Parts: sequence; C-alpha cells; structure tokens
Amino acid sequence: MLNKINNIGIITSGGDSPGMNAAIKSIVNYSINNNINCYGIKYGYDGLINGNIKKLSNKSVYNIIGQGGSILGTGRSIKFKTILGRKKAFENIKKNNLDALIIIGGNGTFTGAIKFNKEYNFPIIGIPGTIDNDINGTDITIGYDTSLNTIIQIIEKIKDTAITNNRIFIIEVMGKGLGFLAFNSGISIGALDILIPNNNKYDLKNLYKILNKWNKYNSNIIIVAENKNIGESEIIYKLIKKKFNNLEFRFNILGHIQRCGSPTCIDRILAIRLGIESIKNLINLKYNFVIGIKNNKITYIPFKKAIKNKKLVIDKI
Ligand code: F6P
Repeated sequence: MLNKINNIGIITSGGDSPGMNAAIKSIVNYSINNNINCYGIKYGYDGLINGNIKKLSNKSVYNIIGQGGSILGTGRSIKFKTILGRKKAFENIKKNNLDALIIIGGNGTFTGAIKFNKEYNFPIIGIPGTIDNDINGTDITIGYDTSLNTIIQIIEKIKDTAITNNRIFIIEVMGKGLGFLAFNSGISIGALDILIPNNNKYDLKNLYKILNKWNKYNSNIIIVAENKNIGESEIIYKLIKKKFNNLEFRFNILGHIQRCGSPTCIDRILAIRLGIESIKNLINLKYNFVIGIKNNKITYIPFKKAIKNKKLVIDKI
C-alpha cells in the first residue's frame, strides 16, 4: 500500500501547447521543495515504453517558463494503444521506482491514462494541456489563451492586405472541429462569419446571405473551424469562389503556428496553479483525476468525464 510519494514521472503528450513548460517548471520546483524527485519522460508515452526517463532538477527547468512547446517533447504514441506497449511502460515505471505520473495533454492522452489505470491501477494526475480547449469539466486548458492571441494577431495582419486589395479571406483555424478557437477568435477580430462544422458538415446558408449583400465596408474575414481533418475548408473556398464570381477571395490555413510561441500570462498562471495543485494532491495521496479550473476554482474531473464531448456554448450577445 502506497503511503508516500517519493518519485514522480512527468509526461507531456499529444499536440504540444504553450504553457506546458510552465507547468513542468512549477511541478519540478514545488516537488523538490517538498523532497520529492521528478523524472521527465521524453516524447509522451513512448518515453515510458522505451525507458527514456531522466531525473529533472531545478537547473533543468531554469528559465523555461516563457518557452513554447515542451522541453520533454510530446507524441501521440501508437504503441501505448497496445497491451504490450502498456506492459513495457509499466515495467519501466517499476524499474525507475516511479510512484505516480503527472500527464499533461488532451483527450488522447487521457484516454490512454484510463486504459493504463484500469490495467495497472497506477496513480495518475492529468493536467489539461491543449490549444483546443476541449476538455470537459474545465473552463480553460493550458495553451488555449495563447493560441487565441496568436490567431488574432495574425488575422489583424492579414486584414491589412485583405482591405488594401478588397479581398475576402477564408481563414481556417485549428481546434478539431469543436470551434472554441474559431468562435472566440472570430468574435475578437469582427469576422464576417464563423463556420463551425456540425456533424462534420458546414451550413453555408447564412454565409450566402451575407455575401449577397457584401460591400467593401464589411469585414473581409471568414473564419472556418477545421473539421476532423486539417484543410477541408478549401472546399468551402472553392464553392463560394465559384458562386460569387463578382468578389475576390483568398484562402489561408493558419496551421501549426497557432500552437507555437511564448505562453500568455493567463496560460502561465494557469499552468503554475495546476502544476502546484497536482503535487499538493499527490502529497495527500489523492490522484486518478484531471485537475482543472471552474469559475476560477480548482476542480477535480474524473478521467472518463474529462474526455466526454465538451460543447461550445454560444451566448447570445
Ligand atoms: O489537438 C491539438 C491540435 O493542434 C489540433 O487543433 C489539430 O487538429 C491537431 O492538433 C494537429 O495535430 P498534428 O500536430 O499531429 O498535425
């Protein structure tokens, strides 16, 4: 029976998100202050399977607070989806005397944790780290605010050329079809329309109405939330280009730049709060949940609830 946590493994997994490093730093600094050792597991769950595990010190996390990406690397492990992969991961946990894992990631990461937990009943705490903001039970995920700010900064630049050339830009943003990034960036830049897929389909009726009445003093930006696959918005671009051949359109997929760069203050504070909270819980032998924020208060979300579809609630303005 576990009565004290001495050694913690940290994993960043899935799509990286700005603020993951701030979370790692707070976990390591707070653990060391409490005489707990931290081990960094490289490139997501694959690092557990390959035994790519290194002890972290205050020096290893010095000055990483403002760096995007993850110093540990991330990955979407295919091997961890297999029984054999998870068995190897557990063997390496034992070999390195790890007592608990802190995993920072999104839906895929937490799905892996549920399976692993079921098989090995091993203490895990999840921290929501994804630009998609799609973790159920938390208001916000690490990286979402930075990504929104990156998106609106780029679009403000695109507006310069859009307005100068009297062109309408169709801009696809990330977010796995859920629309959090699309909706809030779209509102913030005063988009002409925001298209979010519903059951993988886009409804273009409203856009057609708007374009029928478009004049150069309307907004030039249409935001499209990516569908299941990146790039599907090109179909929309081709369609409207053909239908409104009196107007000039251009098409941009913002791509991975949305996931990059130094985290905003909001993301850093969130990461630090969740990081420290995870260690406080492990010290009190509390685990097997995701730690999030609801109405600015720490909340504990069962893994199964965290991966349930989070819906975009669009308030009437
Ligand atoms: O989950 C984060 C995310 O950036 C999604 O918004 C996007 O669909 C996906 O990752 C892209 O993944 P990859 O980096 O593997 O191309």
